[in-house]
Amino acid sequence: MEQRDSGTAPPALGVGMVGYAFMGAAHSQGWRTVGHVFDLPLRPVLAAIAGRDAHAVRAAADKHGWAAAETDWRALIARDDVQLVDICTPGDSHAEIAIAALEAGKHVLCEKPLANSVAEAQAMVTAAEAARARGQLAMVGFNYRRVPALTFARRLIADGRLGTLRHVRVSYLQDWLVDPDFPLTWRLQREHAGSGALGDLGAHIVDLAQYLAGEVLVGVSAQMETFVKERPRPDGASSGLTASGGPRRAPVTVDDAAVFTGRLASGALATFEATRMASGRKNALRLEINGASGSLAFDLERLNELSFHDHREPAATAGFRRIVVTEAEHPYLEGWWPPGHALGYEHTFAHQARDLVEAIASGTDPMPSFADGLQVQRVLAAVEESAQKNAVYTPVQAVEAEVR
Ligand SMILES: NC(=O)c1ccc[n+]([C@@H]2O[C@H](COP(=O)([O-])OP(=O)(O)OC[C@H]3O[C@@H](n4cnc5c(N)ncnc54)[C@H](O)[C@@H]3O)[C@@H](O)[C@H]2O)c1
Repeated sequence: MEQRDSGTAPPALGVGMVGYAFMGAAHSQGWRTVGHVFDLPLRPVLAAIAGRDAHAVRAAADKHGWAAAETDWRALIARDDVQLVDICTPGDSHAEIAIAALEAGKHVLCEKPLANSVAEAQAMVTAAEAARARGQLAMVGFNYRRVPALTFARRLIADGRLGTLRHVRVSYLQDWLVDPDFPLTWRLQREHAGSGALGDLGAHIVDLAQYLAGEVLVGVSAQMETFVKERPRPDGASSGLTASGGPRRAPVTVDDAAVFTGRLASGALATFEATRMASGRKNALRLEINGASGSLAFDLERLNELSFHDHREPAATAGFRRIVVTEAEHPYLEGWWPPGHALGYEHTFAHQARDLVEAIASGTDPMPSFADGLQVQRVLAAVEESAQKNAVYTPVQAVEAEVR
């Protein structure tokens, strides 16, 4: 319970969340934690969550610390104690929920990828622009921007420490689909997920590449593959990553892997690999960026570390050095532990919550915006188009709003 003197406590910001499995748990952790770590201008209150099964949603509310449970997201949006709607459902419901919430006068945080198609993402941007004029804000949940080492990497690049960028090299490798008997959950079905490894992992690394470089991709050349064409239908309740398979098999309608090259606006070259078939790799998001003055390298499985090479140093002593990104002056670290006391995956959701709460309180645009999410969606669409044409170079349609 809130113990602070009501005269000094910041005003409440009621949060309502839709979906309560993997991302629901991670976002709940962020909302529960953020006000105890950072001094916030508004106090997030875990007002209500929504799911479709009354018993399960009540159990999830109790487990994750939400005051109320609803069985229809429309009822959640209509609640007076909800000012911010946090969307943690599969991509097929993002547009409908986000647009309804924005039209109802709520701020919105929506998980990535922003939508399952460019058309849906465009409609969400239109709704977000109209809501912005009324004072409501919208943000998409590319949480890896909030890994302190990556936020810091962006600062180094923006400060010119790498000079002119030449190469952006990013891969995101997982292995949970290597087993051909892993069931056909929503993540393997195009009508629910939009695409496979591309929208799931590729969306993250496209956003990250553009965020770190500070510029957009202007074209891509891609190959995609579905190695396992049929999988068992789940034989009971399933989430995206957990299910047991029944005896009947059905077609997989999304990609298992996508590899693509791209050109950034400045002329730098980018390479991407997104796969859920990399046996032995669990959540290996790796990147290396090379510029005329230096390079950066990062691996999500060692997320407190950033490797930096300053190419202006004498060759005899230059080389990659390991920066442990846990100093108080590093991004987000002021609220956490003494140097060297490492952070993890879940902290990115507290950072995401902090940035959104501060943006709402100050009335400034949060990033990444829905326009940023649309830009990523256009890259994903260009990747699919290129792959269908056997890797023909395919331009990415520009988004008017600047990607930040
Ligand atoms: N940022 C990240 O690192 C990250 C990681 C995983 C997933 N995601 C994204 O988060 C979203 C959810 O993925 P997940 O892994 O949490 O999935 P999940 O299967 O674990 O959970 C989905 C939840 O949504 C609920 N749901 C589905 N349709 C609904 C509807 N119409 N109304 C109400 N509830 C509904 C399900 O019951 C479940 O609670 C996806 O967009 C995914 O791409 C992001």
